[in-house]
Amino acid sequence: MLRPIGITEGHYECRSLDETLPIFTDLLAAEIVERTEKQAVVKHPNTAWRLVIHEGGPNAANKPHSNHYCFRVANSKEIPKAHEYIADHKAQYKIKSVTRPHEAHFAYSIYFKEPGGNDLEIEYYNPAAIKQGRKIAVPHWTTPLPEEKFPGRGYVPQAMTHGTLNCDNKETSDQFLANVLGLDIIGGGRVSTYISLPSMGPWYVVVLPTPRRDYLGVNSRFTLQLASAEEVADAHKEFSKTGKPLGIQELWDLQENRRVSFILSDINRNYWEITS
Ligand SMILES: [Fe+2]
Repeated sequence: MLRPIGITEGHYECRSLDETLPIFTDLLAAEIVERTEKQAVVKHPNTAWRLVIHEGGPNAANKPHSNHYCFRVANSKEIPKAHEYIADHKAQYKIKSVTRPHEAHFAYSIYFKEPGGNDLEIEYYNPAAIKQGRKIAVPHWTTPLPEEKFPGRGYVPQAMTHGTLNCDNKETSDQFLANVLGLDIIGGGRVSTYISLPSMGPWYVVVLPTPRRDYLGVNSRFTLQLASAEEVADAHKEFSKTGKPLGIQELWDLQENRRVSFILSDINRNYWEITS
């Protein structure tokens, strides 16, 4: 079993960086922290999680709705404002559609389709849910981003809170995520599972069983950080011997360039990068 110290990155595929990066900077208050020709890294100032964005070109597939990332606002009144602002700027940002504000349990949210083929969510999450044991309701920021940093929209995304994955079967998926990847199951219900590593921050990944799946490519993956390069090499050796019966579908070669890492495809055929 891995002993990861963090889910440190999400990886995301779009069609064109020039079209998709303004979505993150202008509509989600994220910053571009790295940029090369075909790849960029964005990060929200209140979130340690980095999102690595790969330019997949014009033929990159649409990703399933349940592979979205989500940004949270501090006040429920900001959700209708976010809807209004994004609906008013659809043409400018080539946004295909934006849903009306929708309330479910403790969440109040909108979704929109960015031109790179991905759905993104902006949500308010009622902190009263903490009292009911919902760990995902804990504050995702200590210092709120002031309106001056993101003026004129009527809403301020305060953190990137979650990513989302599909699975085939909740029970086998939960077992794999907990006992092979070493992730903490911090919540969920009959249907969904929330995984996290609270040592690294409050962000989490929602895993949802989906009957007819669109499988994701390697550009849509999460990165797990282990404590040392040695641990990564040991894990790779271990999985080359025992990976198949554990449910690992693919194990890519160990890379020893800038950092020691390898990629695996899990029991749900989702990709993970294991790195130091
Ligand atoms: Fe979500």
